[in-house]
Amino acid sequence: MNGGGSRLSNKALIIGAGFLGKKIQSVFSHAGFDISATTLSGKNSIQLDITKKECVESVLSKEEPFLVILAGGLAGVDYCEKNPEQAMKVNAQGTRNVAQACSSIGAEFFFVSTDYVFDGKKGNYSEGDSTNPINAYGESKLAGEKAVQQELSPKEYLIMRVSTLYGYNSENDKNTFVRFAVRQLREGKEVLAAPQITAPTLIDDAANALLEFHKKNCSGIYHVSGKDALSRSEQARKIAEVFSLSPEPIKEVKTIPGWTAARPSNSSFSLKKALSEGIHLSTFEEGLKKLRNYY
Ligand SMILES: NC(=O)c1ccc[n+]([C@@H]2O[C@H](COP(=O)([O-])OP(=O)(O)OC[C@H]3O[C@@H](n4cnc5c(N)ncnc54)[C@H](OP(=O)(O)O)[C@@H]3O)[C@@H](O)[C@H]2O)c1
Repeated sequence: MNGGGSRLSNKALIIGAGFLGKKIQSVFSHAGFDISATTLSGKNSIQLDITKKECVESVLSKEEPFLVILAGGLAGVDYCEKNPEQAMKVNAQGTRNVAQACSSIGAEFFFVSTDYVFDGKKGNYSEGDSTNPINAYGESKLAGEKAVQQELSPKEYLIMRVSTLYGYNSENDKNTFVRFAVRQLREGKEVLAAPQITAPTLIDDAANALLEFHKKNCSGIYHVSGKDALSRSEQARKIAEVFSLSPEPIKEVKTIPGWTAARPSNSSFSLKKALSEGIHLSTFEEGLKKLRNYY
């Protein structure tokens, strides 16, 4: 990649230090990078709304990063379905604003995208497979990917698509399916599991993958997820097994009450391209075992 910002800078800017962004912050800090991070709220970080073009330009000019990682935006699938215009504004136009600002200062740009750019009819998706989102979130993220590809040349960006994130930063983490299922099963409470197949991705693996991609000068699109493509009920059963809990409260259902947006049936990835770069990806069992120390 071309790399830029101030050429002497060791600064990486993480935009959207949420669930995944915090892990990226930690992994890059440990690797010796000088890190700045933003959130929408500005809590313990720089305040930045990526829909405000001038603010994006101002933060990038001030921070002078050589690498910008956009791990933020609207990640709530049902929220986006109910607020499609806002989803496009943040995930598409906001991403374009960041890509344009990276282009002006000559910074590398890593964009975190999603398996929901696919319709889920096929599964085992490769990077070159045709996209066809079936909900507003997927549409907005795909529009974000296209904006990146329009604003930057192929060597200047990397798009990492991930699937169903899980992992641990702190007690304040968002309530992922894994965290929810562990809590419910511990209390013997019902866990509803839809037939949807995904490949849960440990946030540590996703953050480390970005570091490796940077070290190896990779660009283009990469699929990064856990090694196992599992239905929600298979995921719940594996959680019960690893945490030594009874699987009895797990109930297979066709849809989950409260889910407004359609979900792809099987949005799992082919991981060949990432694995060929030597990227470490955990099985679901390996990832869950790491979490036993925290949950
Ligand atoms: N979670 C998943 O299972 C999953 C699956 C596939 C792909 N992804 C993708 O992975 C990335 C990270 O997901 P996540 O679950 O870590 O997200 P998250 O926890 O919801 O964090 C999102 C971050 O973006 C910030 N943000 C929200 N709106 C913004 C705006 N208008 N301008 C600037 N920043 C804004 C939030 O700020 P505040 O902290 O102030 O709210 C937060 O820091 C996203 O791009 C998502 O599309 C996630």
